[in-house]
Amino acid sequence: MKTFRLQLRFLVPLIAVLVTASYLAVPFMDQVTLRWFSRDLNSRGTLVASALSDSVGEALIAGRPARLQPLFDRAVKDERLLAVGLCNADGLLLQSTAGFPATLGCAQAQVLAAQPEPWLALPGGAVHLGVHDVIGQPPPPPSPPLEQVSPASGLIPDTALARLGEAAAAIESPTSSPLLLGRLVLLQDMSFIERRSADTRRYLIGLIAALGLVIALITVVVAQLSWRGWVNGTRALMRGEGLLSPLLSGAASAPELAPLAADLRARLRDMEDEFRRSQGPEAEWTAERLRALLQTHLSGDQVIVVSNREPYIHEHADSGIVVKRPASGLVTAVEPVMRACSGTWIAHGSGSADRDVVDAGDRVLVPPGQDEYRLRRVWLSAEEEQGYYYGLANEGLWPLCHVAHVRPVFRESDWEAYKRVNQRFADAVVAEARSEDPVVLVQDYHFALLPAMVRERLPQATILTFWHIPWPNPESFGICPWRREILQGLLGSTILGFHTRFHCKNFIETVDRYLEARIEHEHSTIAFREKETLIESYPISIEWPSPEQAAGWASAAECRQRVVGRLGLPTDICLAVGVDRFDYTKGILERLNAVERLLEKRPEWVGRFVFVQVAAPTRSALEEYRSFQERIERVAERINQRFGRPGYQPVHLLATHHEHDAVTELYRAADICMVTSLHDGMNLVCKEFVAARDDLRGVLILSRFAGAARELSEALIVNPYHVEETADALHRAASMPPAEQRERMASLRGTVREFNVYRWAGRMLADAGRWRLRSRIEARVKRSQTG
Ligand code: G6P
Repeated sequence: MKTFRLQLRFLVPLIAVLVTASYLAVPFMDQVTLRWFSRDLNSRGTLVASALSDSVGEALIAGRPARLQPLFDRAVKDERLLAVGLCNADGLLLQSTAGFPATLGCAQAQVLAAQPEPWLALPGGAVHLGVHDVIGQPPPPPSPPLEQVSPASGLIPDTALARLGEAAAAIESPTSSPLLLGRLVLLQDMSFIERRSADTRRYLIGLIAALGLVIALITVVVAQLSWRGWVNGTRALMRGEGLLSPLLSGAASAPELAPLAADLRARLRDMEDEFRRSQGPEAEWTAERLRALLQTHLSGDQVIVVSNREPYIHEHADSGIVVKRPASGLVTAVEPVMRACSGTWIAHGSGSADRDVVDAGDRVLVPPGQDEYRLRRVWLSAEEEQGYYYGLANEGLWPLCHVAHVRPVFRESDWEAYKRVNQRFADAVVAEARSEDPVVLVQDYHFALLPAMVRERLPQATILTFWHIPWPNPESFGICPWRREILQGLLGSTILGFHTRFHCKNFIETVDRYLEARIEHEHSTIAFREKETLIESYPISIEWPSPEQAAGWASAAECRQRVVGRLGLPTDICLAVGVDRFDYTKGILERLNAVERLLEKRPEWVGRFVFVQVAAPTRSALEEYRSFQERIERVAERINQRFGRPGYQPVHLLATHHEHDAVTELYRAADICMVTSLHDGMNLVCKEFVAARDDLRGVLILSRFAGAARELSEALIVNPYHVEETADALHRAASMPPAEQRERMASLRGTVREFNVYRWAGRMLADAGRWRLRSRIEARVKRSQTG
């Protein structure tokens, strides 16, 4: 029906044009044919007149026009010639045939014949009127016998005599010119013109109608085809295929479309950029919004997360099997996303009771008791763990990327183990995939090779790799013996995410330095071996506590009561806290140095200021970590000896794992939180501290070398290498009036609430959804080109 209506839109104007054309053309054609035939009649009349002229001339000279009658009567036998009249030179009608109108005089005929349209309307129809002179050279008259010329004889009228006299004069004169002897008036039938005009009109109208019909037919066919094309194309587009495919693929079969395709692609990217910017901060990201996004952008698609650290660790304890949550920023961030999208999380099963709780496919539903998503465990031998995890990942890549003055160590055997384990996890991804195009979220530096490995087996997969740690500059990264392999592995990703633009820039420059790849800085993409990767910054964050969660917290005063009670501190103490893994990148030593300097510089704080460091043991199998822990313990000991006294210990080092609730209690009890990383991708401790302070109290001291410093500018930002500056910040924080604390904390909370972990995941997944659409279009085009 729609097609018909569309075609009508073409046809109605077309018919109108044709009718108007006929309306205008027919009278015009009539005029033209009439003129043509009129000219024909003129020539025909001239022909007839010249055929008659000799006889007519002779008869006139002989003065016997009556003898012409039979000639004229014969002439009008012709069906076109209606009547003939003969006028003498003076305009007197001498002779005429039967059809000659009685009312038509010679003078009138002459006037009419001179008109451009010499037509005369008679009761029998219109006639063409032509007047043709009869010219003659009269022969010398024979001398008449006298009696003949005697006027008294009465045989010749006077006029004839006069004429004869003239003729005689002409003969006498050698230069005598031809004389007008008379005029022939010819009336020709015009009805045949009418008939022919009618025929021409019929042909013309027939021609226009036929032409119209052909045009209409072509229009209908073209409209039908293009309408179908557009409808199919639009539908295909909506399915992520179709109409624009040849243009978008860039491999358009028609080379003339290539510039258009490039323009379109550029415009599409601009629109993507605009869209991303327009996403802006306006609407708050929540688990529901993320779920809705998964349904709209990645409807029904399977989400698989791959990380080394598992979100739940089952351990054997005296009381039976217990479940522990690891101290890992990665787990803190990815867990809520996984709960929102109910996928599969593949991780190293590192707990002593992990094997006891999984099913035959090495899977277990988590969180325990809530069963919201599946955890698929991969088992590693001690040797594999040593080479891949401790070796290449934590002795090689970790210090390499953090540039924290610990030398990276690169062993060939570690590299071999790293490759093997990456392949094992890639195989697990393929085994868990229920379709050929799952969404795979690869986490961190443990799996730099996995994206390309998965891409090889599942070319349609959407692989989002997030690098949770910093990316160094090209020179620093260049010391890695396998830099090219690592870069190539990562470029198997669809999207490669970092916390900050700065890390993205470092990565792009590193690729530029070590690989042959096409980099598009404007859109932040790298094309390597025909495959494009978007390099984008997605600042990671935490799940903002729900009102129900916050309502379950003890009040800040109560938390403080419990903490000071547990540590045996006076209630009015200024309490600063640090919560980290026991890692040399966290700046724990620099923090202690700053505390020592504060007590040194401002003795008024001695006895009134305490620093509590929660430090979860981590990677203790590594010498670097063990010696670091020992060193921290020695420094803490030294400070306590220097400034402590009975009942007062300035530094409390709690080198045990603390569960989330205990950490929240500590945050709520504290006056100051110190985050002094020497280099950190983001750091989530500072965001957790802010989220825990719904009483709008507490001061955050934050290292400028943590990614979070770019977002949390209301913190007291410090250079942890500058011990004086950090000590001064401690003093400033400890003395900060409550009003200023409230102001800063309210602003920090607004930022963390808005830039929460759902936004982190949501932006990444929305980008993935758009890229997925593009790759479906491209795949479709390839299929159509090869098929
Ligand atoms: C950092 C890394 C994570 C890691 C976490 C804990 O946050 O980015 O990948 O899980 O440290 O380290 P661990 O070695 O104990 O997993």
